[in-house]
Amino acid sequence: MDKVFITRKLPDEAVASLKEKFEVKMWHSDEIQMTSEELKIEAKDAHAIWTMLSDKVDRSLIASLPNLKVISNLGVGYNNIDVEAAKENGIIVTNTPGVLTETTADLAFSLLLATARRVMEAERDLRAGHWKSRSPMQYTGMDVFGATIGIIGMGRIGEAVARRAKGFNMNVLYHNRTRKMDVEKEFGFTYAELDTLLEESDFIVLLTPLTPETKGLIGERELSLMKDTATIINVARGGVVDEQALYDALATNKIWAAGLDVFEVEPVPLDHPLLTLPNVTVLPHIGSASIRTRLAMMQMNAKAIEAVLEEKEPENRVV
Ligand code: NAP
Ligand code: GLV
Repeated sequence: MDKVFITRKLPDEAVASLKEKFEVKMWHSDEIQMTSEELKIEAKDAHAIWTMLSDKVDRSLIASLPNLKVISNLGVGYNNIDVEAAKENGIIVTNTPGVLTETTADLAFSLLLATARRVMEAERDLRAGHWKSRSPMQYTGMDVFGATIGIIGMGRIGEAVARRAKGFNMNVLYHNRTRKMDVEKEFGFTYAELDTLLEESDFIVLLTPLTPETKGLIGERELSLMKDTATIINVARGGVVDEQALYDALATNKIWAAGLDVFEVEPVPLDHPLLTLPNVTVLPHIGSASIRTRLAMMQMNAKAIEAVLEEKEPENRVV
């Protein structure tokens, strides 16, 4: 019987179908991260591994799993996996695109609104007993309605954010490597070169995958092009932004604020300089975290593993 190893404890309903057909072993905790060494040991006989974004599936791990046929990753991004090494070893990699698009766009837009209107800062202050009077300019933020939003990475989630922005009467600019004439025509979104988008947007939303090309895409130069009233929202990956440069730009008010769902190192260390700034709204990487969506993502992973182990073509194959 083929063996499946799952790197986090998942709900029973998510693994039930796999248990009927395969020997399924799961890490004991839904919170504690496995180390690479633990993963090597626990998954050593596995034909399939079901991984989380926080698992580093590198060449050395792949080489240590002789039976491995498939890596199924809980998430649409797969920058945690060395896909070239998987491909060279004839191992299939799958992800979970599409089902999380609207949920992640909801979160991106929530983060944009919360950052623009200083929602978390105001809430923190109220709870700490700092609401003593109603000062006219206290907690004044930036208007979202009618502002210009610039989306870098106009893919599935980017488009879903742009549709929400339309409802706020925003002017939508986008930047991709390839122009999308269909959405330009249908929704009136405008393509812009990266620098133009950075110069003209009030809100800049990052939604590219993390790749060698997008690593550090937003650095000191790009931040210097932004308006001093601009807000940056990162729902992509921490590595798309140079965090030191972002800290410097925010601390010196070169840009107005940032909303971050993702960090270069996750969980973000509590002594991270960005966490000291009042104009930064932070979330613990919860873009796709709705109950229905997470269960739908898990169902996709389970189906992909089942397909590969039954020698069928899985949906959502990355390589
Ligand atoms: P997608 O449909 O593949 O969209 C990605 C977009 O990025 C594409 O339109 C792509 O267009 C563009 N892109 C890629 N490289 C680029 C570059 N160098 N410069 C400019 N644009 C570039 O993926 P998706 O489903 O929307 O997901 C996007 C990313 O969001 C994921 O990879 C993941 O990292 C992140 N995400 C985060 C959360 C969260 O919880 N925070 C949840 C889901 C996803 P071109 O190829 O034409 O450039
Ligand atoms: C979340 O970050 C994902 O890539 O699905």
